[in-house]
This record gives sequence, C-alpha cells and structure tokens, in this order.
Amino acid sequence: MAKTKPAYSRTFTGRAVGGALTFLLLLSATACAGSEDAPQTSLDPAGEFARAPDVLWNITLAIAVVVFVLVEGALVFALIRFRHKEGRKAAQFHGNTKVEVVLTVVPALILAGLAIPTVGTIFDLQGDPPEDVMRVEVIAHQFWWEFNYSEQGVTTANELHIPAGQEVVLELQGAASDAVAGTAEVVHSFWIPRLSGAQDIVPGHTSFLRISADEPGRFVGQCKEFCGLSHANMRVVAFSHTQEDFDAWVEEQNAPAVENLSGDAAAGQELFNETFDVRSTVVEEGADAYQCASCHAVQPGLDAQPRTGPNLTHFASRSTFAGATFENNADNVAAWLRDPHGVRPGSKMPALDLSEDQISDLVAYLQSLE
Ligand code: CUA
Repeated sequence: MAKTKPAYSRTFTGRAVGGALTFLLLLSATACAGSEDAPQTSLDPAGEFARAPDVLWNITLAIAVVVFVLVEGALVFALIRFRHKEGRKAAQFHGNTKVEVVLTVVPALILAGLAIPTVGTIFDLQGDPPEDVMRVEVIAHQFWWEFNYSEQGVTTANELHIPAGQEVVLELQGAASDAVAGTAEVVHSFWIPRLSGAQDIVPGHTSFLRISADEPGRFVGQCKEFCGLSHANMRVVAFSHTQEDFDAWVEEQNAPAVENLSGDAAAGQELFNETFDVRSTVVEEGADAYQCASCHAVQPGLDAQPRTGPNLTHFASRSTFAGATFENNADNVAAWLRDPHGVRPGSKMPALDLSEDQISDLVAYLQSLE
C-alpha cells in the first residue's frame, strides 16, 4: 500500500513555507529603510546631475513595464486559451515569417528609441562643464577622502562642502603610494547617489564628476568599489549650503588652528607632537614609532604638510571622522585612538602605545580643534 502523508503534515509544510516567504519578504523590505534624514538612494535625486539618469530610468522602466505586461499577458492568455482539452489536437507548423519579422523589428525599434535619450544623457553628463565652475580635487585614500579646494585654499577630509544651486566639478584622483602609510594604489569609486552617478577613481588617472544640489542639505555616500578591508567603512558626507554659509565655512576652515589651550587640551597638544611606540600596525615595513604630527597636519590650507593622514586643523568642526564612519564625539574618538584596527579593519593608522590618560588628553585636544 502506498504511503500517503497525513493531512496535518501538508498543512504544516504549507504554513512553514508561507511563513518563511513572508519573513523573507519583510526582511528584504528592511533594505529600503535608510537613515531617515539622508537615505542613499538614486531614486530621490537632489540635483540636476542625479535627476538626468533618474529621468532616463523612469522612461526605461515605463517601457519595460508595458513590454512585460504585453508579453506575460500573451503567455498567460495562450496558456489558458489553448490548454489541453479532451480530443483537441495541437496545430503543427514550422516557422512564421510575419511573426518573426514583427518580433525582430519591434524590439529593435524600442531599443533604437531608448538609445536617443540614453546617448543624449551620457553626452550631457560627460560634457565639458562651463569654465567658471567651482572645482574640488578629491583624493581617494585607503579608507578616507581628501578634499582640496584650490581656489579657496581649503583642505579637509571626508565631508565635502558645496554651495547649493550651482554645479561643482570634482577632479577625482587615487592617492599616490605612500611609504609612511604603506598605501597601495587601488581603485575606489565616488558615489553620493542623490547628487550624481558614481565615478571610478583609477590610480594615475584623473576623472571628473559633475555634481550639484538644488537646496541646502546633507547627503551621504559611499565608496562603491571594493578597495580593501574597510571598503564598507569608506563613507562620505556632502553638505550643500547657501552661498553665504559656504563662504562662512571657507573662512572658518582657513582660520588658524586654535592656540593658547589649557588643561587637558594643552596636555593633548603636547602629546600630539611626542613620539610613541607602535603597538600594532597593518603596515608591514612601517616605522616602530610615530608622532601623531608626522601624519596629521594641524595647520590650515593646502600648503600644510604632511598629507598622509587627514588634516586635523578643524577636526572638531566635522560631524564624522575616519571615512565618515563614526560620529565625531569623545567616546568614539577615544575608541579609535585605543584600537584603530579593532574599530576599523585595515586602517593605515598605527595603534600607538597610549595610556588611558594620554588618550583622554588627546581627545580633549582634538575636540578643541573647532
Ligand atoms: Cu574606497 Cu572602497
């Protein structure tokens, strides 16, 4: 006698499968939840260079939906209309020139039609920007961004500031190999989805990206090309400002570093220039002792040396640090100084042999750099 599964078993299996599918659906839906104030989405463009590809996407999606409905509709219709019936015989024929011509010509016409706005958009986005547009040099490091404003004389890290309502051209370059940081030349990709498409950054080659934001706001982005252990921690934030606020930011960034510190901050300032043994580093042939000051400048402007690590002149004016990964607060900075590789794998920052007191003095100093 053939064994049949008891009814309750089938119901249970059905429910389990249904439950699992629902769970997966809900789980995948959570991927749509970004941080509320600034989601990383190219479907909500905030400037003309993100809007152009979004318009193209909407046109393509509309055509694709029509094609999908027609093709799948015809399939479903055929399945029902010509389903097997007692006594019905399937028609036997070979080839149908008319249908084949239609099925070749119609898609070709659709693709040719789509090519017109596509090529137009590509030329618009890749075209030469006007001469008088503001330019910012972007240097991709493992794993942080350096922003140099040649006209304004400003250098900063991880947080890009632009005036709203106008085009800005980013000149993207890979960091040169650096003996101190042991930086390998790798490919990165700059992407702030609400402001523009992504642009790869290839060592030894300068590429350009046109961006703009209609309104003042905050826009988050992410390195989009796998570049090492902390690729996922290589984020970027852009702030767009009114012209007035942007000018104020430039002035603030060009102001000299804070002087005449007292208390813990003053002690931290001294430690910043002291040499500490290295506890651990990801650099194989690095030195066994470093000063903070040997990699980080606390001097405003593009002439400040060195450039191995981010310029820290106005560190406290930034909302994030370390590739815009961490919120800039005392606890996070302390955790970072204590164990840079623990909180951010592959970081080029050496772990220095610092005591807890020294860490809190350094944090006080860094927090005073407004
Ligand atoms: Cu830089 Cu991924």
